[in-house]
Amino acid sequence: MPKNTLLNLSDISSLLKVNGEEFDKLLASAKQLRDEKLGNQIYLRGLIEFSNVCSKDCYYCGIRKSNKQVQRYNVSDDEVLASCRLAFDNGLGSVVLQSGECSSPAFVTRVDRLLKKIKQLSGNRLGITLSCGEQSPETYRRWFESGAHRYLLRIETSNRDLYYKIHPNDKKHSFEHRLEALYYLKYTGYQTGSGVMIGLPFQTTEHLAGDLLFFKNIDIDMCGMGPYVEHENTPLEGCRHLLRPKKERFELALKMIAVLRLMMYDINIAASTALDAIDVFGRVKAVAAGANVVMPNITPAKYRSNYLLYENKPIGNNDVLADIALLEQRIKVIGNEIGYNQWGDAKHFFKKNER
Ligand code: 5AD
Repeated sequence: MPKNTLLNLSDISSLLKVNGEEFDKLLASAKQLRDEKLGNQIYLRGLIEFSNVCSKDCYYCGIRKSNKQVQRYNVSDDEVLASCRLAFDNGLGSVVLQSGECSSPAFVTRVDRLLKKIKQLSGNRLGITLSCGEQSPETYRRWFESGAHRYLLRIETSNRDLYYKIHPNDKKHSFEHRLEALYYLKYTGYQTGSGVMIGLPFQTTEHLAGDLLFFKNIDIDMCGMGPYVEHENTPLEGCRHLLRPKKERFELALKMIAVLRLMMYDINIAASTALDAIDVFGRVKAVAAGANVVMPNITPAKYRSNYLLYENKPIGNNDVLADIALLEQRIKVIGNEIGYNQWGDAKHFFKKNER
């Protein structure tokens, strides 16, 4: 199996098509490379989905603006801080603050305030990743200065034509603007993450191979990608008949993770929650395919049923610590351990800044 060699589009497409024994080998070699280069520790981030208010209308997403069935919420500052305290006290090392996309001054100020308070409550020791969509360069800078050091912004697909099949074609959903946002994030100094959905209608294996080359070209530090999963109250529901079977989407997602690990050995790759919507062991299987980050959901339980991006999204246990204990047990079974009390930053980020 090639290791961190320069794979071209056709090599990557071939790898994404392997089955059977070749599939097992691909996943095992990615895990081996991860263990060899990064050690066997898996990092946790406590995920707080702090608001589902969204100004966008992405055709695939259950919390899109036009879905009137969703009860909109904002987790209160106190509740967000209590979740952060729980993460900190239990050694998670860092949190991810995720929300629908909103860029009102009140929202920007609120996130800024939360960042400062989280830093304060943990004596600067809790790491913070943001995942709040496209914002202005000024907002990105402001949040960076207030303590966020990593930012996730999925490109969703790097193919412009496909992008407009899954988003409205208007100013609010501009492909170019999204690319620019990724550029601003990097330029501001964030460890920058991106990702795609796998198994979208109209998406080919070559599109996915192109996505992996895109990540390499823009030199991401982190990646989160998972299977596309249907949601009945979205426009893409009408394309259900075009989809690959769920199992195939799931296996394709594992192959994407494995091949990306071979292409970019020192980035952080998350085992996304959507994998668990298809297979109860989804995220652990992703760790066994080369992922090194898992994001247990620590959003207060009462809000979770209103953050259903797709059907079957696991809403977890009322008892966050029980969820984490189970995860830890499963991760041990595949020979890895959890790296507690660490930020678990992407090695790639520091290496490239050394050059
Ligand atoms: N299936 C899978 N992933 C989805 N997301 C949104 N809707 C879906 C869906 N139907 C993902 C997007 C987004 C992330 C927060 O959730 O990739 O960036």
